[in-house]
Amino acid sequence: MVTYKDNLDGITSELLQGGFFDGWPNTPSPQAHLRILQGSDALVLALGEDGRVVGYITAISDGVSCAYIPHLEVLPAYRGKGIGKELVRRMLAKLDYLYMVDLLCDPDVQPFYESLGMQRATGMALRNYDRQNCAGVG
Ligand SMILES: CC(C)(COP(=O)(O)OP(=O)(O)OC[C@H]1O[C@@H](n2cnc3c(N)ncnc32)[C@H](O)[C@@H]1OP(=O)(O)O)[C@@H](O)C(=O)NCCC(=O)NCCS
Repeated sequence: MVTYKDNLDGITSELLQGGFFDGWPNTPSPQAHLRILQGSDALVLALGEDGRVVGYITAISDGVSCAYIPHLEVLPAYRGKGIGKELVRRMLAKLDYLYMVDLLCDPDVQPFYESLGMQRATGMALRNYDRQNCAGVG
């Protein structure tokens, strides 16, 4: 059974070693992943029965008007079981007091977010791919 929590109590980089950032050419280490979680303003974790993290979502926010959701991922072996939707539902509930909640995603994932009440929008992005593994930052 998967359980959910919205803090990092007891979470170590060892519990993040399941293979996150699937498909990224330049993968952040579990230690960098933990720093990403520690630096986020809000997070929700999905934990497997052995206590390992099997999915997570983060948000950064000014706490007044807006939040941005940069990371959502469920480990491949755990996908298609409703965990991703539950992570988004829990995060949107936490951010419900804000005016703007934004994220960027590929077109194939737009129906997933639409089913959770979000609307399509246009956006802009900049990526420094040589820094994708977050090494030396934070
Ligand atoms: C997107 C993601 C978090 C969904 O997690 P999940 O636990 O599999 O999601 P759920 O089981 O709650 O929901 C699955 C639903 O989303 C749809 N879906 C998820 N990812 C999809 C994709 N890339 N393309 C099309 N449909 C997708 C499934 O078809 C399914 O639809 P259904 O409920 O109508 O059957 C997961 O696929 C993932 O980690 N992907 C890689 C990282 C990623 O793309 N993150 C989003 C960045 S914006």
